[in-house]
Amino acid sequence: MPSHSFRYFSRQVVEESVTMPEAIALMKEAFRSLSLGEAVVPLRVNLPQPAQNAQTLFMPVFLPSAEALGLKMVTIFRDNPARDLPLIHGLMLVMDGNNGQPLALLDAEYLTALRTGAASGLATDLLAKKEASVLAIFGTGAQARTQVEGVAAVRSLQKVLVFGRNRKNTEAFCNDIYTKTGIKTEIVQQPDQLLEADIVCTATTSNVPVFEHHHLKKGVHINGVGSYRPDTREIPGLTLQVAKVVVDQRTAAAAEAGDIVLPMKEGLLGNDPIFIEIGEIVAGIKQGRCSEDEITVFKSVGNAAQDLAVASYLVKKAQKYDLGVNLA
Ligand SMILES: NC(=O)c1ccc[n+]([C@@H]2O[C@H](COP(=O)([O-])OP(=O)(O)OC[C@H]3O[C@@H](n4cnc5c(N)ncnc54)[C@H](O)[C@@H]3O)[C@@H](O)[C@H]2O)c1
Repeated sequence: MPSHSFRYFSRQVVEESVTMPEAIALMKEAFRSLSLGEAVVPLRVNLPQPAQNAQTLFMPVFLPSAEALGLKMVTIFRDNPARDLPLIHGLMLVMDGNNGQPLALLDAEYLTALRTGAASGLATDLLAKKEASVLAIFGTGAQARTQVEGVAAVRSLQKVLVFGRNRKNTEAFCNDIYTKTGIKTEIVQQPDQLLEADIVCTATTSNVPVFEHHHLKKGVHINGVGSYRPDTREIPGLTLQVAKVVVDQRTAAAAEAGDIVLPMKEGLLGNDPIFIEIGEIVAGIKQGRCSEDEITVFKSVGNAAQDLAVASYLVKKAQKYDLGVNLA
C-alpha cells in the first residue's frame, strides 16, 4: 500500500485483525507515553445533546511513538439500548504524524470496546494478585464482554460471576462469554456473592454504586470503566477512600469520572488526593500493589492515546496484509 493510500476498516476488520493480547501490549506503550508527557492528549470536547439524551465526544491525539495523529468521534445515545441499538457508535480518523497525510478511517465501536477491555487487562496484570481466579462483572453490554476478555488474557480465570439486571441479556452474555473464552459463568442471585471475587469489573451506565463496600474481598482488584461523566458512579465512595486508586490520566479522571469527582465533593478523598497513573506504573516510576490485603482500583474514562495506539497498529498491519478497503 503506498503511503498516500486512504483505507477504511470496518468493525469486522478491526475485530479480526487485532487480538486482545496485542491490544494489551499496545495499551502498555500508549499509557507509558501518556504519563511521560510524550503523547499529546488534550481534554476531550464534550458536545451535549440533552434533548436526545445523548452526548458526543471529540477526542484528539498525537502519538509520537506511533508517528500518528488521530481524532475519534464517539456518540453516546443513552436511549439506544432500549431501541436495540448500541449505546456507543464511533469513527476514528488516522493521519500520518510526520506529514499530516490522511491514512485511514476506522469504525470505532469495537475499537472502543477492545481498547477499554485491553486497558483493564493491563491494569489487572499490573495490580491484581497473581493467583486471582474469580472475576465478577457488573453489566452485560458491549464493554462488559471485552472486560472479561481483557482480564482472561492476563489471569487464569476459573469462573465469572455475572451481575446483570435483565435475565435474557444476562443469559445471552453468559453464553457469549463461554463460547468465546471457555470460562464457566454463574448468574449471581445474592449481592454478597461478590465476596468470592478476586477481581471486579464494573461496565454499566449506572448513576449509583453497583455494589456495597462490605461485600468486597480483602485484596480485591477493581476495574471501573462505566462512569465517564462527573454525575455517574459505580464504585462506593468508601472503597475509593481506602483503596489504592490508579487512573488512566489524572486530569481527565478529576474532570470526568464521577467515581472520583463525587467522593471528592463528599470529602471522602481529601482536598488534593494523590492518584497514580497506570502509565507511571508501566514506566516504573510508581509502585502498584503494595500488600496482599490492599484493595486496588483502576478507574478509566478512556483516552484517545489508547484508540490511536490500536488504530495505527492496524494501519501498519494493513500495509503488510492488504486489510480494509482502499478509498483513495
Ligand atoms: N472507560 C472507558 O474507556 C469507556 C469506554 C467505553 C464505554 N465506557 C462506558 O461504559 C459504560 C457501558 O458501556 P456499554 O457500551 O457497555 O453500554 P451498554 O448499554 O452496552 O451496557 C450497559 C450495561 O449496564 C447495565 N446497567 C445500566 N444501569 C445499571 C445499573 N443501575 N446497575 C447495574 N447495571 C446497569 C445495563 O443493563 C447494561 O448491561 C457506559 O457508561 C460507557 O460510556 C467507558
